[in-house]
Amino acid sequence: MIEILNLQKSYGKNLILKDISLSLERGRIISILGPNGSGKTTLIKSILGLVVPQIGDIRFDGESILGKWEYRKKIAYLPQIARFPENLKIKELLNLIKDIREQNADDNYLIQFFGLEKEMNKALRNLSGGTRQKVNMLIAFMFDSPVIILDEPTVGLDPVAITRLKELLEREKDKDKLILFTTHIMSLVEEISDEIIFLLEGEIYFKGSVEELNQLNGSGNLEKAITNLMEKRNV
Ligand SMILES: Nc1ncnc2c1ncn2[C@@H]1O[C@H](COP(=O)(O)OP(=O)(O)OP(=O)(O)O)[C@@H](O)[C@H]1O
Ligand SMILES: [Mg+2]
Repeated sequence: MIEILNLQKSYGKNLILKDISLSLERGRIISILGPNGSGKTTLIKSILGLVVPQIGDIRFDGESILGKWEYRKKIAYLPQIARFPENLKIKELLNLIKDIREQNADDNYLIQFFGLEKEMNKALRNLSGGTRQKVNMLIAFMFDSPVIILDEPTVGLDPVAITRLKELLEREKDKDKLILFTTHIMSLVEEISDEIIFLLEGEIYFKGSVEELNQLNGSGNLEKAITNLMEKRNV
């Protein structure tokens, strides 16, 4: 569904993504892991056309995305840092986004699902960190998009909200969607990922299942295996 071909991205003299090639298919939950600054957000933003690579191509359903924007309607995106006008109430923000997207949205169900009914008339600047993240998630999930990309959706969420997120991801996967997400919570990765892509210094250092990573590493514990990858580079 999404193909990344020999992608290279630099900021000034810093080469951030070095010759990345990947094929991402529907019906899968894919975790992009890697230490801070390894290029996860840059890779995600490249798929969204928010970052323009110097070399390489990205294809969405077989067509290059470079210079195009229509394909973006098929992608739901939760950015690592979401910025919306702080004076808007949640209710107003949702209406604004629905107007812009001109697509059907199933927000009532999600408002209940995340227990946001009582927060709808609060201005964004008055929300707690976790509530803000729930709003971001609501925006990402309210349109029926075939691709869902979440850049650190777990930040600030309490355990109940993380369980809810997990349920949502599994439900969307069952609808044959492609889900791509980053997180630093390894238990979530272990529970739901069909595939892990581990980035290190802008390269794909490991790609495979949780089981394959554990086996390769010999630790039987994903948190340890990932820490080993980050520290020792022994895969
Ligand atoms: N707009 C920019 N201009 C210059 N450098 C940038 C820019 N955006 C990102 N970088 C650099 O690119 C590198 C990769 O950043 P990126 O945000 O992709 O990392 P990440 O893997 O998402 O990290 P984190 O886990 O902290 O979110 C970092 O060294 C960062 O400083
Ligand atoms: Mg990031």
